[in-house]
Amino acid sequence: MKFFIDTANLEQIKEAASVGILDGVTTNPTLISREQGTPKEIYKAICEIVDGPVSAEAIALDWEGMVKEGRELAAIHPNIVVKIPMTKDGLKAVKMLASEGIKTNVTLIFSPIQALLAARAGASFVSPFVGRLDDIATPGMELVQQIQQIFANYQLETEVIVASIRHPMHVVDAAMIGADIATIPFKVIEQMMKHPLTDIGITNFLNDWKKVENRK
Ligand code: G3P
Repeated sequence: MKFFIDTANLEQIKEAASVGILDGVTTNPTLISREQGTPKEIYKAICEIVDGPVSAEAIALDWEGMVKEGRELAAIHPNIVVKIPMTKDGLKAVKMLASEGIKTNVTLIFSPIQALLAARAGASFVSPFVGRLDDIATPGMELVQQIQQIFANYQLETEVIVASIRHPMHVVDAAMIGADIATIPFKVIEQMMKHPLTDIGITNFLNDWKKVENRK
């Protein structure tokens, strides 16, 4: 499973990239709104840090507007993937952008049939939002399982990005299902690396090593 980071914060992206396991970045308007600079400046800077897909969201709601914005976003850097919301206009825009060789990530996916439609329209990626489904007492991971099964049934090449991840167990579940990608907030990436028994083990080893060091 590939690891993307779900943030527009350059420091977090640099830190995650320095570990050597970062395959891409996803952003959304909320994440961009938390950072300084124009969206274009932020996308450019992210593409300079990470050599992988960087999702940048179109804001227009009509398909012509989405296509125009998509072309502008794609021109920023070859790694830009245009994030398009899952609507009727969104599907039209995906089809058009795909015909021009522009990659898209269809976002705000909450049902398996939305994912199938997006894939058929030519989306490179689909983003089911697991945390937001869990928030309304609907199991988000069941959606991921359904999408993976449907895509496998028809050998669809669209990759599944598990999004709206809130904790490490979401990442474990995504990997158990065999999802292509998990896009993970920085805080959760940090949590994933930690285990209290690892910390206790290090402390005990260091304490025992002091006894060895004192030997003449
Ligand atoms: O990539 C989409 C993701 O950022 C949404 O996460 O936590 O706002 O539901 P969240």
